[in-house]
Amino acid sequence: MKKQIKFFDTSLRDGEQTPRVNLNSEEKLKIARQLEKLGVDVIEAGFAISSPGDFAAVKLIADNIKKSTVCSLARLVKKDIDASAEALENAAKPRIHVFIATSPIHREYKLKMSKEEILQSIRENVAYAKSRIDDIEFSAEDASRTEKEFLVEVYSEAIAAGATTINYPDTVGYRTPDEMYEAIKYLQEHVKGIEKVDLSVHCHDDLGLSVANSLAAIRAGASQIECTINGIGERAGNTALEEVVMILKTRKDLFPDYTVNIDTKQIYSASRLVSLLTGITPQPNKAVIGANAFSHESGVHQHGVLANPETYEIMKPEDIGRSSNTLVLGKLSGKHAFKDKLKDLGMDYLKEEKVTQLFEEFKKLADKKKYVLDEDILALATGEAAKVDGRVSLVHFEISRSEGKPKATLTIKVDGVEKTSIASGDGPIDASYNAIHKVLGDKFVLEEFRLDPITGYSDAQAQAVVVITQADASFVGRGQSTDVVEASIKAYINGINRLYAR
Ligand code: KIV
Ligand code: ZN
Repeated sequence: MKKQIKFFDTSLRDGEQTPRVNLNSEEKLKIARQLEKLGVDVIEAGFAISSPGDFAAVKLIADNIKKSTVCSLARLVKKDIDASAEALENAAKPRIHVFIATSPIHREYKLKMSKEEILQSIRENVAYAKSRIDDIEFSAEDASRTEKEFLVEVYSEAIAAGATTINYPDTVGYRTPDEMYEAIKYLQEHVKGIEKVDLSVHCHDDLGLSVANSLAAIRAGASQIECTINGIGERAGNTALEEVVMILKTRKDLFPDYTVNIDTKQIYSASRLVSLLTGITPQPNKAVIGANAFSHESGVHQHGVLANPETYEIMKPEDIGRSSNTLVLGKLSGKHAFKDKLKDLGMDYLKEEKVTQLFEEFKKLADKKKYVLDEDILALATGEAAKVDGRVSLVHFEISRSEGKPKATLTIKVDGVEKTSIASGDGPIDASYNAIHKVLGDKFVLEEFRLDPITGYSDAQAQAVVVITQADASFVGRGQSTDVVEASIKAYINGINRLYAR
C-alpha cells in the first residue's frame, strides 16, 4: 500500500509573516477556500492569540472550511491554547499546533528555561491542549539546532502527553538534505511512540534548501510536509508546496510509494490568488509557477517543443491548471466558450452568478484588448478577490498637461458622496495620488510601488501593487487595468480602503 504524504499549508500563518504582508479575514478565507480545493490536508489559519484580527480570521476559516483540517498556532502556554480552542470551536476538523523552542541558544537567550523546565511544560501543556482538542501537533522550534538526544526526550514526552503529530522545524534553514535525512531517521529509531503519530517537517529556505530538505525527510520517513504557496514566509520563506508536489508527481520513478491528496490542476489558481492578495509576485524564473516556467525563448527550443513538447518540458502546463492553449477568447466569444475556458483553468467550481459577472467583465476587457489570454481570465477571477468594499471608490479620472506638468482631474466617491479635485505632480500617477490626498484631506507615505504586466503584449493588463503607511501601520493595495494609471489609482484606493477598515 502507498504511503500518504500530508500537506500542511501555512501560507496564512508563516506566509503572512512575510514582511509587509497583511491579509484581512475575508482575504484569508478566499485563500483558505482555494487551499481546500487544492486538497491540502491541514490549513494553518493563523495564530489566534496574536491579535484580534488573527483570532477573527482563524474563526472565520474554522466556521467555513469543512474538508481540510483547520489549525491555529499557540505557544505552549494555556492562554494561547484557550484562544486557539475558542477560535476553532466550530471547525469540522480542528487542530491546535503548540510550539516551544528547544535549542541551546533559544533556551539560554530567549526562554531562559532549563531542559527539565521545558520537558515539564510539555507534559503539562500538551496534556492541557489535548483536554481541549483531540488533534494536537507539537513543534520543537529550532529543532534542527537542538541536541539530538534532548530532542528524543522532547518528542517522546509530547507523544506521551497526547500529541498526534510531531513537527521538526528547520527554523533558520540551516540543514542540508543529508543531515535532514539522518536527523529524521534518528528520531524514528529513538522517539517513544513515534509509530503512532505523524512525523512532520517544516523547512525554511535561508540557504535555498527547503524543498530538498523536505524531500530528504520524506525519504527518511516523514509523513507530513509543512509548506506555503509560492514559498512565501519569514525571511527567505518556507518550502514551496507546488515544488514538492510536482517533484513527487514528475519523479514518480524516484518516489513510487507515495500518494498525495493534492489536485495539481488547482496549483496555478492558488499561486495567482496568493500572489495577488499578498502583493508578492514570484520571480519570473520561479520553478513550476513562474511566468517563464513554460516559455521557450530560443529557436531551437521552440522548434523542439512544437515537434514534441517533451523535448524541453518535463511537466505539462495543464497539470498545474495553466492551459498551454494560451491564445484564447476574443470579443465574439460566447458564454459557453468562456465557461469551458474557466473549466480548463480549474475554476469549474464558480457559481453561475459569479460566472455571469466575470463574463461581463471579460466582455469589457475584450473590447479593450485584441487577445484575451488565459492569464487575463485568471487575473479577472483572482482580481475580483482583491477588491475591498470600502469607503472610497474611483468614479472617473482624466490626465492632461498644464505648464509642462501632468495634471489629474479625479472624481472619487467617499462614503457615498462624489467629490472632485485637480492636482499636478511629477508624473500622471503622482498627480493622481496628490488629487486623492486633496479630496480626502489625508496623507499616506508611499513605501513601495510596483507595476507588473499580467500578459506580455502592449495592450496587456497591468497589475499595480502599492504599500502605503500611516502612523506606523502598512497596507498593501492592488489594482489592475489595461491602463497603467488606472491600475495605479485603483491600487492606491484599495490600500486606503484597507487602512480605513483597520
Ligand atoms: O519556523 C518555525 O520554527 C515555525 C514554528 C512555529 C513551527 O514556524
Ligand atoms: Zn516557520
